[in-house]
Amino acid sequence: MPALGERLDPEAIALLPQTLFADGRGLPSGRGTVRQGALLYARLCVQCHGPDGRGGSAPELAGGRSPLAGDYPDQNIGNWWPHATTLFDFIRRAMPMFAPGSLSDAECYALTAWLLERNGLWPEDVPLDAAGLGAVRMPNRDGFDSQWPDRGPPHP
Ligand code: HEC
Repeated sequence: MPALGERLDPEAIALLPQTLFADGRGLPSGRGTVRQGALLYARLCVQCHGPDGRGGSAPELAGGRSPLAGDYPDQNIGNWWPHATTLFDFIRRAMPMFAPGSLSDAECYALTAWLLERNGLWPEDVPLDAAGLGAVRMPNRDGFDSQWPDRGPPHP
């Protein structure tokens, strides 16, 4: 056997990107509340994304719902993201920008819960977990396919 690479310890493996599917398969256990998410956001995210998820230098996370087929569709989470699970995945991998990979699964659930709540897609008083997140249906889930009829019908 070629003497290539090195054995990784479990801590290093846990930091590697993990595959998460759009339907929620691969989501970890744990949960987080909207309230916890609001506190984390105020500490780790607001400086770039702005209060309430808008108005900062980084992309808008919550806001308007201008139509996808218009000239300037709002590219925030509620209008532009077909799957809620992507939000958890992106936050876990990439945010906060100054320390990607630093958040626990529970913190990612909390931040996802708060951002979904800000977009009117999650109730304020229900903790978010894998089952809940996998069941969230984004408003424009089928909006992208229907703009391009030559690509066939929307996915089931
Ligand atoms: C230092 C500035 C900074 C901080 C702090 C920060 N972000 Fe970001 N964030 C960015 C930038 C810049 C992008 C765009 C990155 C890209 O498109 O590759 C981004 C993108 C995102 C996106 C994807 C937006 C989109 O529509 O593509 C999400 C979701 C997000 N950040 C969530 C968070 C959360 C949650 C936190 C706090 C835990 C956070 N960010 C902290 C700068 C920041």
